[in-house]
Amino acid sequence: MSVLISPSVLSCDFANIQRDIEMINSSDADWLHVDVMDGVFVPNISFGFPVISAIKKHAKKPLDVHLMIKDPDKYITEFAKAGADILTVHYEACTHLHRTIHFIKENGMKAGVALNPHTPVDILQDIVHDIDLVLIMSVNPGFGGQKFIHNALLKVEQAKNLIHRCGSHAVVEVDGGVNLQTGAELVKAGADVLVAGSFVFNSQDPVKTISDLKKL
Ligand code: DX5
Ligand code: ZN
Repeated sequence: MSVLISPSVLSCDFANIQRDIEMINSSDADWLHVDVMDGVFVPNISFGFPVISAIKKHAKKPLDVHLMIKDPDKYITEFAKAGADILTVHYEACTHLHRTIHFIKENGMKAGVALNPHTPVDILQDIVHDIDLVLIMSVNPGFGGQKFIHNALLKVEQAKNLIHRCGSHAVVEVDGGVNLQTGAELVKAGADVLVAGSFVFNSQDPVKTISDLKKL
């Protein structure tokens, strides 16, 4: 199966959000990556429910929502209502991760777990069965346009091995610093989904950039 592409709307033009969502609709993108930051778990604040609902109104592809927020449990129902299809929480931000994952699924969404660059893949051993997606962060979360951390390649291989060993169906997504070069290395390492923000939206022809990534 070819790699799935999830353009990150964090890098879109927020004054022209409908135009940029329609661009993604018309492209080879598979999902829309939606980054939610709380200014506590990460040193930045992005946007919340009204913006996600507005994106959902125009999006023709699943919303892949990446929560960079502490203790997300109390907002999970709201994210479902706003239109999230896949909801990914950070391992480092959840005290009772098993409960959080099951709460996401009870709310009709697919559940993902994200790992910061310093967090080893092995800690997922007892939860990998229950999740639909492992998100390997290839930058420290909080900002678009950062430099790719190469250790992520090794972590993709480790995550694929763990998933295989445990008989899990989870896919491996990578987020941060993805371009054609790092994307090719990630696909070779076994990545199933690539998130790309600045590389897509800062390019001359975002539709073509998405289709180039899709061909990796
Ligand atoms: C970073 C976010 C990313 C970001 C990626 O914290 O999680 O999704 O939009 O941006 P690029 O592709 O520019 O590194
Ligand atoms: Zn993200």
